Amino acid sequence: MNSNPSPAAVPAHVAIIMDGNGRWAKSRGLPRLEGHRRGAGVAQDVVRWAADAGVKQISLYAFSTENWERPHDEVTGLMTLLATMLTMQVPAMKKEGVRLRVLGDVSALPRLAHQAVQHALRATAKGERIELVLCLNYGGQQEILAGARRLAQSFRAGEISEEALDSMSPADFRRLLWRDDLLPVDLLIRTGGEYRISNFHLWDAAYAELYFSPEFWPDYSREAFHQALVGYQRRERRFGLTSEQLHAEVSSPHE
Ligand code: IPE
Ligand code: IPE
Ligand code: MG
Repeated sequence: MNSNPSPAAVPAHVAIIMDGNGRWAKSRGLPRLEGHRRGAGVAQDVVRWAADAGVKQISLYAFSTENWERPHDEVTGLMTLLATMLTMQVPAMKKEGVRLRVLGDVSALPRLAHQAVQHALRATAKGERIELVLCLNYGGQQEILAGARRLAQSFRAGEISEEALDSMSPADFRRLLWRDDLLPVDLLIRTGGEYRISNFHLWDAAYAELYFSPEFWPDYSREAFHQALVGYQRRERRFGLTSEQLHAEVSSPHE
């Protein structure tokens, strides 16, 4: 079967919930951290697969605001892994034209992990082939709440009028979120067989196509990723319109 996605209609922004590291490890009698270590290698691979397919932005959910509640040893292990793997991956990222961005409150990360992130951000700043948005200490509800708080502060400080507040559009509000330079999520993939969003990209995934994969993240393959891209190309994205409207717009475009 040819599962290579055609260059037409490649999603510009793909977001991935990389789930199943722990179960992958458990099923082999290995410590959970070994699953995370393998998963970090696949994370590096998927950025390359995405860049090769023509994806412009890829968000990887690496650590959620809720993941701090995991056992202390797992959190510490994940943070150490982040620091070492990210530092190791910088030369390859530079070579492959990957520009790192981060989404989430990285100031709350332990010092070594924070330093590794800052170093990788600087070292890859010239990458032009693909943007890797690493989501660290990220929570969609927290992001929207922070935006609402910023808005309230601006209003209190008199920087925004009552009229401007009343006529505010979703696009206006979007500028108050943690990053104002992300594309809307076109395709949201979750591995590991669970069917939920787990507080990821709540705003930007409003019209994302959802794709759920049964594999545990360390088993994720280029073929599975290509199947998701091909699946995406078969969807009809209607954005609230009817199918007939979309076809009419294609056959008789506005002047
Ligand atoms: C995802 O894998 C990685 C992180 C959340 C950091 P999990 O660790 O959630 O793996 P499962 O879901 O327990 O198998
Ligand atoms: C989501 O996975 C977070 C990451 C992949 C970083 P979780 O494993 O934490 O989500 P739940 O707990 O199954 O919803
Ligand atoms: Mg999980």
